Amino acid sequence: MIALGSDHGGYGLKQEIIKHLTEKGIEFKDYGCFSEEAFDYPISGKAVAHAVAGGECEKGILICGTGIGMSMAANKVPGVRAAVCHDCFSAQATREHNDANVLAMGARVIGPGLALKIVDIFLETPFSNDERHIRRIGMME
Ligand code: RB5
Repeated sequence: MIALGSDHGGYGLKQEIIKHLTEKGIEFKDYGCFSEEAFDYPISGKAVAHAVAGGECEKGILICGTGIGMSMAANKVPGVRAAVCHDCFSAQATREHNDANVLAMGARVIGPGLALKIVDIFLETPFSNDERHIRRIGMME
């Protein structure tokens, strides 16, 4: 189960992601917002973070204007490792090295084509399980 969250700035791109996940048969839960009306990003950012940290969802995807505010909100929740990624290399590396469990993107930064590719990479790339990466993640917690 993938937890989704956005603010008003990310609402449109989140709809594209919902369509994409639906076509691929990937289950998701939408933690808001539910329109393009102004919405405070920490509300859905933290809701998604708690869903991931609590084990209700295995990963989360957050979309605001920049991806930055929502990643900051999510990273306040212990156990969450949210990464802002706007390129494929970072999405792959943050899964392999950081075992990132939340992807954050900015709808005002990238278009839907690249965003959906990044979503696929983020969801499909396993953690490396390398000892050095496990050690470094442990040092962050
Ligand atoms: C909303 O205007 C904007 O601040 C928000 O979408 C996000 O970019 C915050 O980091």
